[in-house]
Amino acid sequence: MSENLTPLLKQYYQIKNRFPDKILFFRMGDFYEMFGQDAERAAPVLGIALTSRTHGKSEKVPLAGVPYHQAEKYLAKLLDAGFKVVICEQTEDPKKAKGLVRREAIEIVTPGTSLYERAEKGTTNFLAGVVFNKEKVGFARLDLSTGEFLIGEAEETGWSETFLSLEPTEVVFPQSQKETIAHFPELSAGRTLSPVEDWKFDFGWAEKNLSEKLGTLNLSGFGVEGKKLAISAAGGVLSYLSENQIQRLEHLRLIRPLADADETTLDFSTLLHLEIFRTPSGDKTNTLFVHLDRTATPQGSRRLGRWLRIPLTNPGKINERLNRVELLVTDHFLRKKLHSLLSEVFDLEKLAAKLGMGKAGPRDLAAIKNSLAILPEIAALLKESGPPLSELLNHFPDLSALFKLFDQALKDAPPLVANQGGIIKSGYSAELDQLHAGISDAKKWIATLQAAERQRTGIPSLKVGYNKVFGYYIEVTTPHKDKVPSDYIRKQTLVNAERFITEELKEKEELILTAEEKIFALEEQLFRELEEKCRPFIPQLLETAEGTALLDAAVALAAVAVDERYIRPEVVAEGETLIEESRHPVLEKVLPKGNLVPNDVSFAPERPIAILTGPNMAGKSTYLRQAGVLFLLAQIGSFVPAKKAKIRVADKIYTRVGASDDILRHRSTFLVEMSEVANILNNATSNSLILLDEIGRGTSTYDGLSIAYSLVEYLAAFPNGAPRTLFATHYHELVELERKLPSVTNLQVEVKEFEHQLIFLHKIIPGGCDRSFGIEVAKLAGVPMKLVERARELLKELESERITLNVPAEQASAPDLSGVKLFFEKVLKLEPDRLTPLEALFLINELKKESQNLTREFGWK
Ligand SMILES: Nc1ncnc2c1ncn2[C@@H]1O[C@H](COP(=O)(O)OP(=O)(O)OP(=O)(O)O)[C@@H](O)[C@H]1O
Ligand SMILES: [Mg+2]
Repeated sequence: MSENLTPLLKQYYQIKNRFPDKILFFRMGDFYEMFGQDAERAAPVLGIALTSRTHGKSEKVPLAGVPYHQAEKYLAKLLDAGFKVVICEQTEDPKKAKGLVRREAIEIVTPGTSLYERAEKGTTNFLAGVVFNKEKVGFARLDLSTGEFLIGEAEETGWSETFLSLEPTEVVFPQSQKETIAHFPELSAGRTLSPVEDWKFDFGWAEKNLSEKLGTLNLSGFGVEGKKLAISAAGGVLSYLSENQIQRLEHLRLIRPLADADETTLDFSTLLHLEIFRTPSGDKTNTLFVHLDRTATPQGSRRLGRWLRIPLTNPGKINERLNRVELLVTDHFLRKKLHSLLSEVFDLEKLAAKLGMGKAGPRDLAAIKNSLAILPEIAALLKESGPPLSELLNHFPDLSALFKLFDQALKDAPPLVANQGGIIKSGYSAELDQLHAGISDAKKWIATLQAAERQRTGIPSLKVGYNKVFGYYIEVTTPHKDKVPSDYIRKQTLVNAERFITEELKEKEELILTAEEKIFALEEQLFRELEEKCRPFIPQLLETAEGTALLDAAVALAAVAVDERYIRPEVVAEGETLIEESRHPVLEKVLPKGNLVPNDVSFAPERPIAILTGPNMAGKSTYLRQAGVLFLLAQIGSFVPAKKAKIRVADKIYTRVGASDDILRHRSTFLVEMSEVANILNNATSNSLILLDEIGRGTSTYDGLSIAYSLVEYLAAFPNGAPRTLFATHYHELVELERKLPSVTNLQVEVKEFEHQLIFLHKIIPGGCDRSFGIEVAKLAGVPMKLVERARELLKELESERITLNVPAEQASAPDLSGVKLFFEKVLKLEPDRLTPLEALFLINELKKESQNLTREFGWK
């Protein structure tokens, strides 16, 4: 640094140098200023002007600033862009400062640790930790706003599928594993990576630290025993928090395995391809979540999101949820009443978290109070309604004591900050009331002063006034100057008046001023005490948050069921799955009314694998998504869009789509496709639901076809029975598998061809389709007629050379040798002496072609 720096910049760099990788918000008056590189990096992200200023003799320094009262908005933008921000405040009153105001870094905010609202509504910040050992990966994800840790362990292949489904905003990992992390480029897409020292992931330290924070002796009560690596990851997350000056975590309450025994998780690809939270193209509006989210509270909305991410697998538990939804479907009054009451409940989870982190302000406490005011009415409704809704009552502990405390202490609409008064009600603190009384006496005295002085001096126009610069004064117009008594002290001369004070007025004024200052200080102190008194209630507040979340989510699902005419599915553990006339819930809303063609989705236990063929644009992918979404809806305890539904639960739903551009995760497409397939084959069971859309597409036709073919064979050979599988494909060769494998059946999408015109019926019917109609679709799209005709010609030629595939011996009937026989017969019939050289040449060519076909047919190549 140059010695020419002004004292201000010197102070700036002293602080800035401690945080080279973060943006420093440097408070100067009403602005947070950024200098130098920080300003250059932040200005374009924030859309604010980048200027520069000369400081002393130094060179020009780039500068950009944001007004402090809008800091949250700008902060959110920086965090969304992946930056970390240090907030540096003025820590002494500028009026009292001698020279430069003292400044200190008081808060570090990173994308995963921030409680600030994200720019995108409804998104939560999650902080995750990851650590590898030789065999596996441990990971943990903390939701700071609810104080809940989810942890898990996985094999190195496919682990990122599970991990990314947790939507971490920021990922902490041991410094020395930077290279391992770099093998998973999908991790860094849109996320902040934060390496920390290795020792912070030490297991012993993690266990101790976690138990301490959770207030337990050890972690044995949480069902996470044996998950050493995952616990280490959680420890890493905690250390990172304290590194960022977040040590108070009194709301941390739970560490639990990613999915309980009765739950399953949807992996990243499945979430994406079923279009649950976003579509593969990144759209976040036409998603299942948005369609379902008719919740009234943020905690309810988050809960619904969690259900979609982690559905249930236990029919008993699913039916518990369905019972509640059903009751709310039938009782319109109750549903609407509960929804409107819930709309007045605030984000209790986040409020409890703020309390737990010591960051609650007066308005936060008021929000808690207002929520508490509503709860008894909700609880009464639940009680009155009886089971199944009254089962939720154990999430509604009695918080009347806390409400009473707030009611006595807090004013109705307190300000945002704690140091400017206006928080505490009268009657709560005698000392405070006295100060207020002092002020009001003084003010009363001043109010009567004008009349009294007019009488005493005989000046009828004498006025008592107040202004910010001079305080209270007595004003006398110039003509009456002579009547001014001797105890008046002159303060200010105006054009045609003079202003005075008296000793007594001055005293009263000072009394008012000091009392106000004292009030501010006292109210802040009382507020802090109040906050302290609330803290023991954090567990009950979180319990209540849970109760309102569960109720809100059920009310929302019931509202969807009523509005969209869904029915209650029968959910079972065994047997067939039969869903009649089902609709895709989101497509139904997007298409013009009446355009959607309902379809059955069924899986017979003896033929659980269906090969789905049909032209482009017929509705294959839609049908697959629809099947997945129906299972998911049923397994979160929702009604489903169908006429009738019996669903055997799936222990896991896998959805894979043949390689398309994988922009979101920056990976080679075919490699992605195959690693996803590998992941399924390694983890799926006979109880899984597998939706495969054009798997094999990402490579050459024959490679792809062979992979697809053997994939179906592999699934059919699962020892405990084939998993329920829908395989949409353009490889019509797969259709023959129905004949060869007992567990396979064919489905097709019905189309009509009318004078070379295609009519899409979108109806799924039994049978295989032997054509793609790709050329017809190309024609529909407006490709020139000449090209279409040439394509038809080529297709005919290619089809005449079509190959068939070999099927393994144990499943095939005796190999069909008729082709070989014909071949030999042809050779035997030859009379070489009678051939012209030209004929011989033709024949050899023909025989070569035939033997090529035969060798291929028998796989001798
Ligand atoms: N059941 C249905 N009712 C009405 N319209 C439908 C239905 N299913 C699909 N569609 C419409 O058909 C369009 C094409 O569907 P989809 O993408 O599923 O076809 P596809 O068979 O997978 O085609 P491709 O082979 O090109 O991948 C959808 O965008 C949708 O608008
Ligand atoms: Mg498709």
